[in-house]
Amino acid sequence: MGFLGQKFMIEYQKLASYYDLLYSDIEYKNDATKVITLYKQYNTSQGEKLLDVACGTGSHLAYLQSSFECTGIDLNELMIKQAGKKCTECKFHVADMRTFQVDSKFDVITCMFHSMNHLPTIADLKKTLINFFDHLESGGIVIMEIIHGREYFLNNSTHSRISKKDNLKIKRTANLMLEGNILIFDGHYEIFNHDTKIKDIDHKHKLRIFEKEEVLSALEAVGFQAIYIAKTFSGKENLSGIFVGIK
Ligand SMILES: C[S@@+](CC[C@H](N)C(=O)[O-])C[C@H]1O[C@@H](n2cnc3c(N)ncnc32)[C@H](O)[C@@H]1O
Repeated sequence: MGFLGQKFMIEYQKLASYYDLLYSDIEYKNDATKVITLYKQYNTSQGEKLLDVACGTGSHLAYLQSSFECTGIDLNELMIKQAGKKCTECKFHVADMRTFQVDSKFDVITCMFHSMNHLPTIADLKKTLINFFDHLESGGIVIMEIIHGREYFLNNSTHSRISKKDNLKIKRTANLMLEGNILIFDGHYEIFNHDTKIKDIDHKHKLRIFEKEEVLSALEAVGFQAIYIAKTFSGKENLSGIFVGIK
């Protein structure tokens, strides 16, 4: 089974309606503010068209749509459906980040929350970056949040957490195992309504852990000026970083 095989997609589809509750601790508004700051700092194309690649349920776009003319793409149709409800001002396409073709050029492309780590190889990373480059105006920028560095995952670990809203509760237990530069995320989700379990969902996926230098040299090989911004937007974790490419 490849990284993005049919099983991965079916499992991800099952999670779509619970996604926002699962990640309700992510600071999407803060991330959006920082995207705007980076755009002001590095963009010279001066237009206001933004493409959010792997936009998921549109939680970043919800905060960006008042500042930009926004488009979102994602491989997962159910995520895009959720995003459409939240972001009435945006256009959406179901597409793969490696191969999407949108009949427009953008001033900023974002790819947030480790979505690039779903790409299995450096060749896929480069193919995606070439696609981003082709969809950017001259002076446009790409902003990507990518997990990098294997050191953080050297010890296999188990994490558990509970997310709650109204009568709905989700308990997630995840085992993380590193095999070479592939992080295997083996997640089990128990969904409760008023403390009665209504569903179990298993979601196993693989994330390619890129090294910082691999991302920077892939950006440069494609023709971007590459910049590394040390921390995640939230500043909570050190395992991932923000990369900016300037066309
Ligand atoms: C961790 S979620 C992040 C979603 C969103 N950006 C956020 O911040 O909440 C990863 C997303 O990447 C999407 N995805 C994975 N591989 C993709 C690909 N090759 N092309 C487009 N989207 C992809 C998944 O469907 C999922 O919505």
